[in-house]
Amino acid sequence: MTQTETLQQVPGQGADSEFVQFWNEVLGPKFNRFRHILVGGLTRHSEAVFPKLPVREGDRAVDVGCGWGDTALKLARMVGPDGQVVGIDCCDMFLEIARKDLAETGLKNVSFVRGDAEVALPEAEFDFAFARFGTMFFANPVAGLRNMRKSLKPGGRMVHIVWRSPEDNPWLSMAKQEVLRFLPPPGEDARTCGPGPFSMSDEPTVRKMMEIAGYEDITFERIDAPVMIGHDVKDAIAFQLAIGPAGEVFREAGAEAEEKRTQIEAALEEAINRQKRDSDGIVMDSSSWFISARNPAG
Ligand SMILES: C[S@@+](CC[C@H](N)C(=O)[O-])C[C@H]1O[C@@H](n2cnc3c(N)ncnc32)[C@H](O)[C@@H]1O
Repeated sequence: MTQTETLQQVPGQGADSEFVQFWNEVLGPKFNRFRHILVGGLTRHSEAVFPKLPVREGDRAVDVGCGWGDTALKLARMVGPDGQVVGIDCCDMFLEIARKDLAETGLKNVSFVRGDAEVALPEAEFDFAFARFGTMFFANPVAGLRNMRKSLKPGGRMVHIVWRSPEDNPWLSMAKQEVLRFLPPPGEDARTCGPGPFSMSDEPTVRKMMEIAGYEDITFERIDAPVMIGHDVKDAIAFQLAIGPAGEVFREAGAEAEEKRTQIEAALEEAINRQKRDSDGIVMDSSSWFISARNPAG
């Protein structure tokens, strides 16, 4: 049995950073409320890449920023009973749900461990490192990406999925434009979860970060997928005002946002009503990068 299988926390972690505190205090409850939208939407992107992942039976894999743990459970089925998966996240609320869901599966080859990936990850333990929309929140992306590389054995592979530009992701950016018609942009000292969803959208910049973090054989593939942003208009408005770029503007505006809530909700309703619908609800376009790389063989 390796160290991480018995741990609740990655060793070498200090006090929580302001970003980790933000995930635990502010975003955790909001994400839990909209889990039905988030998991569905994010899964559209991981489903496209899972069949291509360089994962073999018996591998040891780490899922960084694993959230509620569904991708870790999926990886656990891919590596089989002789493999192991460690899901690592900095938010206790998500890990609690992940551990509960794990208990219901009967899988014996998964553990969920608390840790800030920017601070430290287990070293040279894994054949494969994965992150679905977890790396864009690294305040120091090179440090986080380097820790992920160092968590790999020599020659180990990593895959992360990140959002492409705001223009390619109207499901996240459209509502912000609407909200900014009524409220000021967040100030420099706004509390945040890190750089945010689009911080890894620029291919040359991210390629450079990954090179500096020590990776080789870096490839980018574009994934486009429609995502459900709410069962109905009310659900979609509540989601947009709670999470993501529009949610940040609304949250930071405080009392002014509450005063203008009726007008803002009316504007969002009009904008959302122009979107497509299917049997699951309101649907908008989204676009991600499937980024793959390797830790040098040594
Ligand atoms: C957008 S969510 C994605 C969650 C999950 N991977 C999924 O696809 O459902 C980002 C996740 O990254 C986690 N996270 C953010 N910064 C982190 C860090 N520095 N170390 C570990 N986890 C982090 C958050 O707590 C959150 O669960």
